[in-house]
Amino acid sequence: MAVALDKLSPDLREQRLREVEAAVARHRDKPGALLAVLKEVQGILGYLPEEALKKVSQGLELPLSQVYGVATFYTLFNTRPRGQHIIRLCESAPCHVQGAREVLEALKRELGIGPGEDTPDGKWSLELVSCIGVCGVAPAIMIDDQVYGNLTPDCIPGILASYR
Ligand code: FES
Repeated sequence: MAVALDKLSPDLREQRLREVEAAVARHRDKPGALLAVLKEVQGILGYLPEEALKKVSQGLELPLSQVYGVATFYTLFNTRPRGQHIIRLCESAPCHVQGAREVLEALKRELGIGPGEDTPDGKWSLELVSCIGVCGVAPAIMIDDQVYGNLTPDCIPGILASYR
């Protein structure tokens, strides 16, 4: 699980914030910088804490409300520390009719958590999302950047085991 910024040692915290400032500076004059910066900052910190969003807002000269709005709109961004691996289960109609609900039940059984939750060991987070663009292989999930399709509940234990 990403370590919360306020749990880092003062030196490491300062170092991470300097990296955030450098990321902002690298993108400052590019079109569409906000998404690129948020992605990079999340790569540095593992999530997007308020302090980092303020630095992005100042650095890009954008209202904090706009930066916060983008950070909370996209499911790929997290404003709190999440698990080492994030499972995103598509709950849009094509996946739903092909059995996404049963796949979700298998995930809940295996992980012991529900949507929006993290396992106590910090290994997994579970999210429900809209279409992830692979409707042809519904029902589908993503684990980090990897897509898994044509799922049945029986697939889940093996997929999770491959991350252990
Ligand atoms: S509806 Fe699930 S991937 Fe498109």
